[in-house]
Amino acid sequence: KVKLKRVFQCQSCGYISPKWTGRCPDCGAWNSFVEETVEETKAEKKVLSEIVQPVSISLIEVTLSDRFSTGIAELDRVLGGGVVKGSLILIGGDPGIGKSTLLLQTSYNLSINYGKVLYVSGEESLTQIKLRAERLGIASDEILLLSETLVERILECAKEIQPVVLIVDSIQTVYTEEAVSAPGSVTQIRETATKLMNFAKTTGTAVFLIGHVTKEGAIAGPRVLEHLVDTVLYFEGDRGYAYRILRSVKNRFGPTNEIGVFEMTSQGLTEVENPSLIFLSEHGASSGSAITATIEGTRAILTEIQALVAPTQFGMPRRNFIGVDYNRVNLLIAVLEKRGRVNLAGADIFVNVVGGLKITEPASDLAVISAIVSSFRDIPLPERTVIFGEVGLSGEVRAISQPELRLKEAYRIGMNQAIIPKGNFERIKENYNLNIKGVSSINELLEIIC
Ligand code: TYD
Ligand code: MG
Repeated sequence: KVKLKRVFQCQSCGYISPKWTGRCPDCGAWNSFVEETVEETKAEKKVLSEIVQPVSISLIEVTLSDRFSTGIAELDRVLGGGVVKGSLILIGGDPGIGKSTLLLQTSYNLSINYGKVLYVSGEESLTQIKLRAERLGIASDEILLLSETLVERILECAKEIQPVVLIVDSIQTVYTEEAVSAPGSVTQIRETATKLMNFAKTTGTAVFLIGHVTKEGAIAGPRVLEHLVDTVLYFEGDRGYAYRILRSVKNRFGPTNEIGVFEMTSQGLTEVENPSLIFLSEHGASSGSAITATIEGTRAILTEIQALVAPTQFGMPRRNFIGVDYNRVNLLIAVLEKRGRVNLAGADIFVNVVGGLKITEPASDLAVISAIVSSFRDIPLPERTVIFGEVGLSGEVRAISQPELRLKEAYRIGMNQAIIPKGNFERIKENYNLNIKGVSSINELLEIIC
């Protein structure tokens, strides 16, 4: 007979505590503890039956045909060149961002090219899915829909059908009989995902899991899943904009931080082949706008950073930054004041990245500074100029990685000038048809731009 005991578990990371706590000591989430019933496990003495044998690394064969294409180039890229057989892939994102749409479109391509796809939905009725499919213009006998939430039954069905790909929409709705807590709790999510993983590994079926992320952490965050699955993709984007960015944050089979760019249209998601163009606004040169080149995975993307600096009307100056790191920009403002002698103390400062992209690279520092100074002095930056470089605390401009890739993309998109770190400038082998200027400090930058 199993003994049950009551514990409190963090719904964000899975940490177990015997009593309720306001803040998780493990992951730092607030108000994330929920009472759950778990089976009491006694440490059993295990008898090892088989002797395990290591295998020489040179004897392991790698077959490249273990990957197959989803028919969507942007998705294939983010996956590292297609889906790996037997892999478990998590696609997370806010509700309504387009996860079900993407996977239904993927199902269609896969069913046309490879055979059966089993799409399990615990979220929507079969009619709802059918209506969406009609809207997307999808009809295929090989897409099999199943409305079921018990994982044991899902797997029974999958074993019989033997699909190429199994899709579970969403992991928060499925549950196993073996755990007593409610669907969507950390225990359930971990248990069901483990079962799905075993299925993927033993049968070679690729399994996609959809996971909702809510900022409140009301539903167990897919963070507990991240350790378990092979690949984690996040679908980002503002619902107010049509652009969606699919980003790989973990990938056992490819590079991370790779992005795929999509546009949500009335016919579903379409691929954006030339992302640099959508992140640049179309208007001519105006003050406060700087163009930078960031590396996202294996490619460079040109983005526009806009700044607005205005005198504070009353009280505390406002600082509002979208798409760039808050602390990083505050640091750059401090450097600009101290080393560049630009007095921003009585100014409201707003910074925005066009198109909803989130920039995490310090290589954008120089462009952020340029945009702020340009708005402050109300002088437009030189036209068709790409600016990149990391800025240090003493106002020095430091070399960054992969300048060639950024310069090539800048030329391709129509730039004719570049302001880059001197450290990079001295080492690049050609000029990529651009007029390139190397700067070693922000004061050198200020001399060029204003
Ligand atoms: P959905 O895939 O249901 O999101 P998720 O599964 O991540 O919750 O997509 C939801 C939104 O996408 C919904 O607001 C409607 C919109 N949409 C379109 O704009 N065009 C389309 O062709 C489809 C199917 C959805
Ligand atoms: Mg959905």
